[in-house]
Amino acid sequence: MSQVNQKVIVITGASSGLGEATATHLAALGAKVVLGARRLERINALADRITTSGGSALAVQTDVKVRSEVENLVNAAIDHFGRVDVMLNNAGIMPQAPMAHTRVEEWDQQIDINIKGVLYGIAAVLPHMIERRSGQIINVSSVAGHKVIPPATVYCATKHAVRALTEGLRMEMTPHNIRTTILSPGAVATELPDSIKDADVAKGIRDFYEQCAIPADSFARAVEFAISQPEDVDINEILFRPTAQEL
Ligand SMILES: NC(=O)c1ccc[n+]([C@@H]2O[C@H](COP(=O)([O-])OP(=O)(O)OC[C@H]3O[C@@H](n4cnc5c(N)ncnc54)[C@H](OP(=O)(O)O)[C@@H]3O)[C@@H](O)[C@H]2O)c1
Repeated sequence: MSQVNQKVIVITGASSGLGEATATHLAALGAKVVLGARRLERINALADRITTSGGSALAVQTDVKVRSEVENLVNAAIDHFGRVDVMLNNAGIMPQAPMAHTRVEEWDQQIDINIKGVLYGIAAVLPHMIERRSGQIINVSSVAGHKVIPPATVYCATKHAVRALTEGLRMEMTPHNIRTTILSPGAVATELPDSIKDADVAKGIRDFYEQCAIPADSFARAVEFAISQPEDVDINEILFRPTAQEL
């Protein structure tokens, strides 16, 4: 029996891209998935598809910028399925633009979603996991968490932050038997480039993605690998790229 089977897995940003692909993949392996995102109709439709195929899913409208909504997502998972085994903090945006354009609202949004949203996810599950002495927190960073690639400067800063706080969390959680994983993808075909509002930058990124992006199930399989290890094995970090991606 797969180690994924019957695990209760909360996924933020489950309405598209990596989150949607991962929910579909893990549910097919027997996981009970709890789907969070702002677009309720999308996660409701995904939950319907999963349950129609014989899986278990619950959709909860969630804006990760709002701490109480992330708490509500986790509480709904515990009420419905009895526990949370895995928290996948995946929601994120990438509105890159040169810093000289001072799109400060986009800087704020990236910090609020990519960093604070992850912290709210951690805060929401940590007391529950510490009490159970069991659990896994998977935070999504990026190749941009390893390299600084202008004009994605602020995005890179947020993804470096995700790696730093996840590594610190790992060290602090060793007495509590809680696993942490940093997942850092390269270019994967999703809706992520849609968050770029600067027309020139958006075109360059779209061209780059068209050249080399790989399907989202690549990410889903990496999540499965991290989750399915025995409990005394913690996959701390996975960095993967399309074979064709040089950067
Ligand atoms: N695709 C790549 O090449 C790539 C590479 C490295 C890292 N990543 C990271 O992977 C993660 C997932 O991105 P993706 O590629 O799957 O892009 P995507 O298709 O645009 O999905 C982003 C998800 O985040 C959700 N989201 C955005 N703002 C949110 C908010 N305030 N509250 C709750 N959910 C929110 C979106 O849902 P709603 O709009 O419905 O809320 C959507 O489900 C991100 O953290 C991204 O930085 C992606």
